[in-house]
Amino acid sequence: MAASGRARALQKIVEAHPTSDGAGVKLRRSLGRSQMERLDPFLMLDEFSSFDPNDYIAGFPAHPHRGFETVTYLIDGHMLHEDHLGHRGDLKSGAVQWMSAGRGIVHSEMPQQEQGRMRGFQLWINLPAREKMKPASYRDISPDEIPSVELAQGGRVKAIAGTLEIPGRSVPGPIQGLSTDPLYLDVELPALASFTHPVKSDYNAFIYVFEGGASIGPPSAGKDLATHCAGVLASGDRVELRAASEGARFLLLAARPLGEPVVQYGPFVMNTREEIEQAIRDYQSGELTRAPAVAAR
Ligand code: FE2
Repeated sequence: MAASGRARALQKIVEAHPTSDGAGVKLRRSLGRSQMERLDPFLMLDEFSSFDPNDYIAGFPAHPHRGFETVTYLIDGHMLHEDHLGHRGDLKSGAVQWMSAGRGIVHSEMPQQEQGRMRGFQLWINLPAREKMKPASYRDISPDEIPSVELAQGGRVKAIAGTLEIPGRSVPGPIQGLSTDPLYLDVELPALASFTHPVKSDYNAFIYVFEGGASIGPPSAGKDLATHCAGVLASGDRVELRAASEGARFLLLAARPLGEPVVQYGPFVMNTREEIEQAIRDYQSGELTRAPAVAAR
């Protein structure tokens, strides 16, 4: 390994706080719980997990977005997504919905179950200024499109976005080629198992533990990250960690930062206050969801 190679240390812990969103869905928010707690280009990460239908049954009725991408990863449960463009996506356990709101979308995400566990994540990823007003697009990714790779040391990794790189194997996930080049892995490790993964040194990266715990960093200098905590990683060219004695399940997320100003008002994320005011006017007038004029020639 080159002398510059360095495992990323745990720089900051953002503990998830209980909150609710939509029509009263209970969730835990780590990144994005305040505007100070973002990690460019990641704006927000919500975890929802409950066996109690009262915590999720109200769902997320029709609401708008502009200027960024929303990624729903459903681990357990069944949700129906519908939007103003006529897309319908039936999300079952293990499925992902990758929606690029662009200039505007109005959509709903409603539970299709009245009992049982509902568990998953919603991640918001910012779009660069030049893509904030592109037409909305949407991709439903079924569980069988998401590679699941067994690890030699036990455990497994699901590759949702970017490419899983483990010794001797390179396994691309279904989402590739976005401007922010996101890496989105779901990693499950048995007790005390180690895991190493390259992360480009100019990318921002974090880990969100949702079962068990992990010690982040090289074995001699690991720092503990507990369940329901996001761990923002310092600079380096790889992630190194070890699962706690109860094992670990976590998301590893990394992406190219945009380095652009962020102005957010609820579901609108733009670069300036004027653009936010425009988004609100466009939503109120119906322009947000009107098809953009197609150039005649
Ligand atoms: Fe939404």
